[in-house]
Amino acid sequence: MDREPSSASIATRAAHAGGGAHGDARSLAPPIDLSTTFERDAGGEYSGGFIYARDDNPNRRALESALAELEGGVAAAAFASGSAAAMTVFQALRPGDHVVAAHDSYYSIRQMLDDVFVPWGLTVTYADCSDLDALAGALRPSTRIVFIETPSNPMMRVTDIAGAAILAHEAGALLVCDNTLPTPVLQRPLEHGADLVVHATTKYLAGNHDTMGGALVGARHDELWQRIRAQQRLGGAIPSPFASWLTLRGVTSLVPRVRWQNQSALAIARFLADHPAVRDVLCPDLPSHPQHAIAAKQSAGSGGLFSFRLRGGAEKALSVASRLGLFRRATSFGGPESLVEHRASVEGAASKTPDDLLRLAIGLEESTDLIADLAQALEAG
Ligand SMILES: Cc1ncc(COP(=O)(O)O)c(C=O)c1O
Repeated sequence: MDREPSSASIATRAAHAGGGAHGDARSLAPPIDLSTTFERDAGGEYSGGFIYARDDNPNRRALESALAELEGGVAAAAFASGSAAAMTVFQALRPGDHVVAAHDSYYSIRQMLDDVFVPWGLTVTYADCSDLDALAGALRPSTRIVFIETPSNPMMRVTDIAGAAILAHEAGALLVCDNTLPTPVLQRPLEHGADLVVHATTKYLAGNHDTMGGALVGARHDELWQRIRAQQRLGGAIPSPFASWLTLRGVTSLVPRVRWQNQSALAIARFLADHPAVRDVLCPDLPSHPQHAIAAKQSAGSGGLFSFRLRGGAEKALSVASRLGLFRRATSFGGPESLVEHRASVEGAASKTPDDLLRLAIGLEESTDLIADLAQALEAG
């Protein structure tokens, strides 16, 4: 499989992530290799490089190689979902280990820690990691992992990755960063000192609302990475060859999609910030965002997702969501269609998300059309 020289820009490298011409037919689209098992040579070797598909297979290996390359890591491990990827990080720890997690990490990850890993023996402290003093205060001698998500979903708080890495390392812990929202197009946490990157590839990387997946990207082949690989192989929470293929296909168009979605999100956030029905816009790309300076220092934009709060509380928020025409009322983000979501009612009774908040996932439509849709819904709602 041919690979582009790594000096090319990220757009070029991503566009060529399919790996060039394959096989005797010189196919530019990579073939999907469904085989679960691979033949051994008469002499006992596996000269094809694969043994059994749970351990490794051609489509997953191609995806992992592309993701490692885009994030600037030494290796990547692909999983069946973003949650399976995050779960593998915690499974790689030992009972008694302590985790500091951002208090507003994606709610399913907090639920996973509380319902699965605390009973299993991890201790967890939630901290506002956008405040480095609060993060420092949560660290203990037994802390192994600091788990941040920046920007966070859906509150869009920003954590200083380099600052968090210094604090974690001084305490003998590793920094794990969920980079699902900005993607490597806009932010590469390993360049700022993070040790491990988490992705829900379900979102922007696959990019079409049609494929679940997750990934971890490691900065080093260290002990944690060895345990992650063992967990991936032994647990088998892996993407199928087809899911790997779809995700890699998504990667080839990732850069223009994310740049477009980021630009549209900024135009829409500016429109909303000036609207009298809007109480606040939570978008790190706006200079009014409390952590705008940190966001600008460590990323080229916060991506296509942001939230806004309405004057008039939950009733107004739900009414605006119900009147939108182009925005689909659905969870998730990263696909071609723009989505609107009232997060508090999706997250349930334990949600800390304000009930006047709507989250927008900007798709690939023209931003002027989306602004017109929001304008009519805000007037009517
Ligand atoms: C930031 C973030 N991390 C992880 C996940 C979990 O990914 P998945 O739904 O693929 O399990 C999500 C899902 O929305 C997410 O938004």
